[in-house]
Amino acid sequence: TDPELLSLCGLDDGWLDRRVFWDQAVYELELERIFARCWLFVAHESQLPKPGSFLTTWMGEDNVLVVRRRDGSIGAYLNSCPHRGNRVCTAEAGTARGFVCNYHGWSFGLDGTLNGVHESAAYGREPTFDQARLGLTPVARLDTYKGLVFATFDPDAPPLRDYLGEFTYYLDVMLDNDAGGTEFAGGSIKSVLGCNWKIAAENFAGDALHAGWTHASGAEAMIGRGVAELGADDADSYHVNAHGHCWEFNLDGVGNAATLGDKRIMNYLRENQERVAERLGELRARMVGSISSVNVFPNFSFLPGQNTFRTWQPKGPHRTELHTWVLVNRNAPPEVKDAWRKGAMMTFSPSGVFEMDDGENWELATRSNQGVVTRRQRLYYGLGSDTAIDHPELPGNVHRGQINDANQRAFYRRWSQLLRAATWDDLEKTR
Ligand code: FES
Ligand code: FE
Repeated sequence: TDPELLSLCGLDDGWLDRRVFWDQAVYELELERIFARCWLFVAHESQLPKPGSFLTTWMGEDNVLVVRRRDGSIGAYLNSCPHRGNRVCTAEAGTARGFVCNYHGWSFGLDGTLNGVHESAAYGREPTFDQARLGLTPVARLDTYKGLVFATFDPDAPPLRDYLGEFTYYLDVMLDNDAGGTEFAGGSIKSVLGCNWKIAAENFAGDALHAGWTHASGAEAMIGRGVAELGADDADSYHVNAHGHCWEFNLDGVGNAATLGDKRIMNYLRENQERVAERLGELRARMVGSISSVNVFPNFSFLPGQNTFRTWQPKGPHRTELHTWVLVNRNAPPEVKDAWRKGAMMTFSPSGVFEMDDGENWELATRSNQGVVTRRQRLYYGLGSDTAIDHPELPGNVHRGQINDANQRAFYRRWSQLLRAATWDDLEKTR
C-alpha cells in the first residue's frame, strides 16, 4: 500500500487530514481493509422470522442476501450470480422458497446451493460443469449478539464476541432484557446523503457537542425548549470506547426519549428502568433513554431513547446510503411500540426534525473538500485530551464529560490501525 496515502490516514496529535473524507484512493482502501474485514451489522433476527425469510443489504459495496434457512439457521451470500454476475435477488425483503436468476434461469436454494439450471441437458453433457461448486458465495462467518446479526468476509477476523469485546457491557443496555428480547418495529427507511460515511459515524460515536446547537430549533419544536448545555456538569457524563466502538452518554435516563414528546413512552421507560436496574444495575438503568449516541465500528449506529438504529452504507467517498429501523422490546405494549415508531419518524427519518439538521451539515462538511486548497487543511479533534479516567464500574476506555472528542479519536485510531494492518495479527491489540 502506498505509504504516502497511509500517512494521511490517522490522527496527528489530534489533527486529521481532510483528504480522508474526499480521496477515492482512501475510500478504496477502506473497502478493502475495513468493510471486507470487519464484522458488519446485516440484520436483526426479527427481520427473518421463519424459514425462507430473506433480506438484501450491503457489506461495503458488496450486496448480500441474508436468509433464514430451512434448518432455522441464518446464512448470508453474495447476491451475485456465479454464471454472469447478475444480481440474483432484486427484492429488498420477503419470503421465498429459493431464488432464480433473472438472466439465464439458474436457481438457488435457501442455503445458496445451485439447485438447477435452465437447458440442463446441455450442461449435463459438459464435463467441466460441477453443480456443487457453483452456489452463491457465502460470507466467511456469521454470528449474532442478542438479536443482532453480524457477518464478516474475512475468515481470519476474530470471533464476534472478541470483536465487540467489553463493548457488550454497553450493548446490553439496549439488548439484554427480560422482555423476550428486542425486535425491529415496522419496516426500514432508506435515504441518500451527500456525505462521507465517516462524518456520520463519528457524529454518533461521540458528537454530543452538536446536539444543543445543531438541534436547538428541532428540540424547541419537539419539547418546547432547547437542550441544556451538556458540558456544564460532566460528573455524570462520559465518553466510553472499546475496539473503536463508541458510546457517549449522561445518566439522566430520559433526555433522548423525551424528545419524542410521548407520555406512553416515558411511562414505559420509567417502569422498565426498574427492571433494567435489577438486571444490569443502577448505573446502566440510568443510561437507557438518556442523551446519548452510539457507533459500533465501523458503520452501525443508534440512539438510545429515540431507538433509531441505522447503518451508514458507503457509496463512494462523497455518498452514503442511510438505512434506519426502530428497535423496541418485544413484549412492550403494542401502543408503546407504535408510539416509538412514530416518534422516531418525527425525529430521525428523512423528514424528521433532527435528521434534516444533521444532513445539511454533513453534506457541506464533505462537499467543502472539493476545493483543492480547503482539502489541504486539517481538522481539530483535540477536545478533552486530559479526560481519561479509571471508573469502578465502566469497562473499556473511559473519559469524563460528554463534550469531548475522545470517542472520535478512538474511532479514527481504530480506522487508522485497520487501514495500516495487512492482517488481524498485525493489528496492535487495543481496547
Ligand atoms: Fe444468472 Fe446467467 S447470470 S443465470
Ligand atoms: Fe444530530
